[in-house]
Parts: sequence; C-alpha cells; structure tokens
Amino acid sequence: MGIETSCDETGVGFVKDGVLLGDALASSIDEHVRFGGVVPEIAARAHVQAMVPTMRAALDDAGLQWHEVGAVAVTAGPGLATALHVGVAAAKATALALGVPLYGVHHLAGHAAADTLVHGPLPDRCVVLIVSGGHTSLLAVDDLVRTPIVHLSDTLDDAAGEAFDKVARLLGLPYPGGPSIDRVARAGDPTAVRFTRPLMGPRDPALGFSFSGLKSAVARYVAGPQDPAIGTADIAASFQECVADTVVTKAIRACRQEGVDTLVIVGGVAANSRVRSMAEERCAEAGIELRVPPMRLCTDNGAMIAAIGDLLVRDGATPSMADLGARSSVPLELAQLG
Ligand code: KG4
Ligand code: ZN
Repeated sequence: MGIETSCDETGVGFVKDGVLLGDALASSIDEHVRFGGVVPEIAARAHVQAMVPTMRAALDDAGLQWHEVGAVAVTAGPGLATALHVGVAAAKATALALGVPLYGVHHLAGHAAADTLVHGPLPDRCVVLIVSGGHTSLLAVDDLVRTPIVHLSDTLDDAAGEAFDKVARLLGLPYPGGPSIDRVARAGDPTAVRFTRPLMGPRDPALGFSFSGLKSAVARYVAGPQDPAIGTADIAASFQECVADTVVTKAIRACRQEGVDTLVIVGGVAANSRVRSMAEERCAEAGIELRVPPMRLCTDNGAMIAAIGDLLVRDGATPSMADLGARSSVPLELAQLG
C-alpha cells in the first residue's frame, strides 16, 4: 500500500511485484483555486477528510481486503509539513493495526518509480529528469532503491511547474497553471515571442536550470507595449516552448555526459503535451530511449508511492522506525526516508 499526501492530492495505491493492482485519488485543488495556490492548512484538512474514503476506494479498485495488505509505504518528504503529517500518521496507524512493516519514502523517488508501473524495471543506469511543482532536477540513477542518487543539477530558483503556475497567473489563467497553459497554448503560435532560453549560453552551466528570469521576462512582456496580433494563447505557447526546449535540451545533454541511453521524465510537468512531444522528437534523433509515464501517473498519486514501497520490500530493505517523521525539505539521496 502506498500513501501520498505531500501537496493537494490524497493518493492511495496498491502494487505487488511491479504491477499496479489499483488506486484512488482525491484532490483538494478546487478549494485552492480562489487563493491562486495551495493553502497548506486547507490541504491538510482535506487529507484528513479524504484519507479513509480514499483508502476504501483504492482497496475496492484493487479488489483487496485489509488483511491482504503486506506493507505500507508513505511519502515522508519533501512537501508541505502539515499535509505530510496526515499521510505519515495514517500510514503508521495502518501499519500498526495490520501488524505490517512501514516504509517512509522520498516523494521524488516515487515519481521516478511511477514509470516502472508501465514500462517495467528501470535499466541498470539512466538519467531521470524530474519536473514538478517543487523540483526541477537531473538525476543519475543506478538502482533506484539501493544506490545513492546523484544530482547532476537542481534548479537555482523556481521549479518548472512553479514557473507554469506563476506565468498562468500573469496571463489571468486559473490555477493550477500547467494544465491551463497547456490547454490555451494549443491555439497559440510557439514562435510568436522568442523568450530567451535560460542558462543556455556558452559560459552557463551545461545542465543548470533557472526559471525565475523567464517568469520575469513574461511579466515584462505582458506589462509592456504589446503587438495586438499576439494574444494570450501565443504568449502561453511561446513560454511553454521555451520551458520544453530548455528541459529537453539539458536532459539530452545529461544522457550524453553520463553515457546512458535511457531518459526518464517524471513529475507534473511531464504531463505537458509539448514537453512530451519535443522529448519524443529529440530523443528519437539522439538515439535515446525515452520513458514517460502516462499523464495520470506523472502528477502526484498513491500508485507511485506503492511502486517504490514494493521495490523496497522486494529488495529486503529494513522497515522505517515507528518514530518516522515528516521532513518537509529533504534532498533526494536515497529512496527510503527514516
Ligand atoms: O508532481 P506534481 O503533481 O506535484 C509536485 O510534486 O509538485 O506537479 C505539479 C506541477 C504544478 O506546478 C502543475 O502546474 C504542473 O505540475 N503541471 C503541468 C501540467 N500538469 C501539471 N505543467 C505543465 N503542463 C501540464 N500539462
Ligand atoms: Zn510530485
């Protein structure tokens, strides 16, 4: 059983031997829309209310009974502290009541593990690009649950998803910004505004990411005198093109640098249609195998946490202690926390 509550989605999933048996998801997103972003206290309260019904729905989806649950994995970090606490408490209570082991796991390792549910085990070595609301990182991954994960780069400021959310706000599009921009951009011209690709100069770090300057560039464009022929859809499409170009270019560079031929793209922004299509085109050209989970497994969910829990169980990992706590900011080094 995997439990996810790091942000605004209450997710519960069941995985056995790499196979997704069933899952369920509840979201408090509608309650945050009028604030333009996730309000931690509202998210935490919604997790409390949704937890038991979501567990029930996931059990039903998987056709399982409580006594068939063999272990419980939970996102112990990173994320919103108040939200994480709800999942950790629920996981501890469940593990204790069932008399089964508890595994605290890193949310980002869960994102990477989501891909194994559709494409099978990861190869011996691969590069993972994580593009979510809180993180933008390039990782060198050997064995996801055994070997320490090497960060090739992390964003210097905003995460890619954060940039989507902030730019959507600038353009008057609803939260969450990523799906809004993706939708609106379909009718826009991605070449209408040539936003400078961040950290792509010859003296910039080859794998570095930075999105706050791009967000400011969009703000300046929106505030300045505009070409009446260029509308919101064009600005959205141009911004999206810039982010896609940046993350895909750097991910392919990372594969070359590491000498690996598999790229895995995960996290909420991996649901973006242009990131997906551009990654497909460029990886095909570069002879790199691209793995991207289906959209519903890209954004936060319980199945991905069950997936990493299942890998830990099968690897014979030592369960986490009963004093497992929530860690709101913790770098991804090992898949297991606590
Ligand atoms: O991985 P995720 O569900 O939660 C975190 O762990 O952060 O990612 C959420 C982020 C949000 O910033 C959201 O705007 C973005 O992913 N996102 C997208 C799309 N769907 C979700 N960004 C671009 N295009 C999308 N289709
Ligand atoms: Zn996430």
